[in-house]
Amino acid sequence: MLEVKGLRKEYGGLTAVKGISFNLNPGDIFGFIGSNGAGKTTTIRMIATLLEPTSGTAVLNGADVRKDPMAVRRMIGYMPDFFGLYDDVKVWEYLDFFAAIYQVPVKERPGIIDSVLELTNLTVKRQAFVQSLSRGMQQRLCLARCLVHDPALLLLDEPASGLDPRARAELKELIAELGRMGKIVIVSSHILPELADFCNTVGIIERGELLAFGPVSQIVKDIQPHRVFAAHVLKDPEVAMQTLIQLPSVVDAKLVDGELRIEFVGDIEAQADIVALLVDKGFRLAAFREDSADLEDVFLKLTTGAVN
Ligand SMILES: Nc1ncnc2c1ncn2[C@@H]1O[C@H](COP(=O)(O)OP(=O)(O)OP(=O)(O)O)[C@@H](O)[C@H]1O
Ligand SMILES: [Mg+2]
Repeated sequence: MLEVKGLRKEYGGLTAVKGISFNLNPGDIFGFIGSNGAGKTTTIRMIATLLEPTSGTAVLNGADVRKDPMAVRRMIGYMPDFFGLYDDVKVWEYLDFFAAIYQVPVKERPGIIDSVLELTNLTVKRQAFVQSLSRGMQQRLCLARCLVHDPALLLLDEPASGLDPRARAELKELIAELGRMGKIVIVSSHILPELADFCNTVGIIERGELLAFGPVSQIVKDIQPHRVFAAHVLKDPEVAMQTLIQLPSVVDAKLVDGELRIEFVGDIEAQADIVALLVDKGFRLAAFREDSADLEDVFLKLTTGAVN
């Protein structure tokens, strides 16, 4: 497991990461969300042993990034936000080179290269030159390179940037597969909805502080404790609002853009009662639907958009 304990980084007068702590277990896919300058790359680089923490530490399967960085490096695959690939090298040579760096025994290398090529859907490009690959393929090759030594933890810093929608979908599927293989995956992004559907845990960082950590559904619940229904009443919506607010299941009702926004606590019967009441009282109900918090709203509510 990965334990991040009070991790902190100061750059001169600026504190980029302000003592953050969290734990992740094998199979966890952690979406690390924050705006530009929030501290994602700094945190990831500290866990990757490439940047020394000012204080605090991270421990991966018992190995401490400060005391035993070499042991940590053998267990991680790090895909930086900007990476260069070597020119005039074929795809398989590139992977063979990294397998050699990680001291994968010569005999095992061909089999491992085959399987990472297959996993990243690059088998047909085995003999291609690295510079001839498209951006999305290069991204996948970089990920393949991170896998040759079968790491326990993958650190992927904005792996989806610059990819088209299809390539993004493929990348998500690949990351989900890594989770099923029992790896811990940390994947950073600016965009919460982009990660929400395939991460089991998300963390929202702003100005070096972890504002929220946990399953997406829990974070949404914390931000919006009640369910919300939207009702479109054609005539006299204010009167309808006053009527609804009498109900014990209605915590609050507001008019937003001509629609009723009903904050609701209750069961399915109470939910049906709302519709029945509106119809019984003669309101012309054109639409009634659940309006759950948009993930982008959650992100915007949590963060103030302030940067360092
Ligand atoms: N080497 C450095 N020296 C000084 N300040 C730095 C250094 N690296 C990062 N910073 C500052 O630390 C803060 C966090 O930067 P970081 O790169 O970790 O953010 P990020 O969340 O990865 O942002 P982005 O989404 O733009 O990649 C920023 O204010 C940045 O300017
Ligand atoms: Mg970054």
